[in-house]
Amino acid sequence: MLEPEPKSLRPGCCPRRYGHGGETEVPAESARSADCLAGDGASRPAAHRLRSGESQLKQRTGRFATRTVYPARPVLEHVHRPRLRACTGQNGGVDLVDPRIEQYAEAHTTPPPPLLAELAAETHATLASPEMLTGTVVGRLLELLVHGSGAKRVLEIGTFSGYSALAMAAGLPPDGHIDTCEVDPVHAEVARRYIARSPYADRITLHLGPALETIAALAGDFDFVFIDADKPNYANYLEAVLPRLTRHGLIAVDNTLWSGAVLDPLDDSARAIVELNDRLVVDERVTVAQLTVRDGLTLIRRA
Ligand SMILES: C[S@@+](CC[C@H](N)C(=O)[O-])C[C@H]1O[C@@H](n2cnc3c(N)ncnc32)[C@H](O)[C@@H]1O
Repeated sequence: MLEPEPKSLRPGCCPRRYGHGGETEVPAESARSADCLAGDGASRPAAHRLRSGESQLKQRTGRFATRTVYPARPVLEHVHRPRLRACTGQNGGVDLVDPRIEQYAEAHTTPPPPLLAELAAETHATLASPEMLTGTVVGRLLELLVHGSGAKRVLEIGTFSGYSALAMAAGLPPDGHIDTCEVDPVHAEVARRYIARSPYADRITLHLGPALETIAALAGDFDFVFIDADKPNYANYLEAVLPRLTRHGLIAVDNTLWSGAVLDPLDDSARAIVELNDRLVVDERVTVAQLTVRDGLTLIRRA
């Protein structure tokens, strides 16, 4: 069993999805509407919160209620990292995308099949940190990336309850396969149940144990890798899989904006993500695109 950790420190947990000191509740009406905006039919308790001090960083605009302004400051030679004290909480946190736009994007994304909707509902009802589940938009994006790249061999680092593995499986050809790594037996039990009920039971193998050990024990190369586990190990995961990425392979790394905490990294996970992002953009071995979808998704190919 994993040692229970404070929520903000739990591997794979995104900081702003959990409450922190220094947050200020928005009026009830706004909170209700934000609850309606939460994805996968479940509420995200912290999603509607504004941090105290945040208002000073926002400007009124015509079309949307607020716009965050980041004073520019060059940090690394090739990296422009705006410096912003986005909030006064333990970790930084901003809305990466206006919640109404997120709602619009989800409403215009092909809904998940009933089994995935059921899995999302059970995850939110029974597991701790349910916001770790990727959800509709990133789930469909992963499916499209797997399908469009023609990937046959997929590696996932961080199964949780199995949502993203099942989403990617929908993009696989019949002879494709996903190896997915999970260290927590409670998460693995839920994932295995849903994988068994899915049409892809023969295409997904769940490996229970630390991902780095699993990767070392697996043979062969990968066409598509989804990295979505403990953030301090992200750089290790990248080094473990990059030499084993096929010529047209892709790596997708989740949570690479860490709810905006990359602007002011205050904990180990945020610092690990910032270091990785800064290294990747100057790494001549790869070509990267940092997307602002959901919590930040970085796409990588070998240069
Ligand atoms: C963000 S969640 C994954 C979410 C999942 N990809 C999805 O979209 O539904 C991260 C998962 O990684 C697992 N994890 C954390 N450290 C790990 C490790 N060292 N090896 C394997 N899994 C790990 C956690 O138990 C958690 O279930």
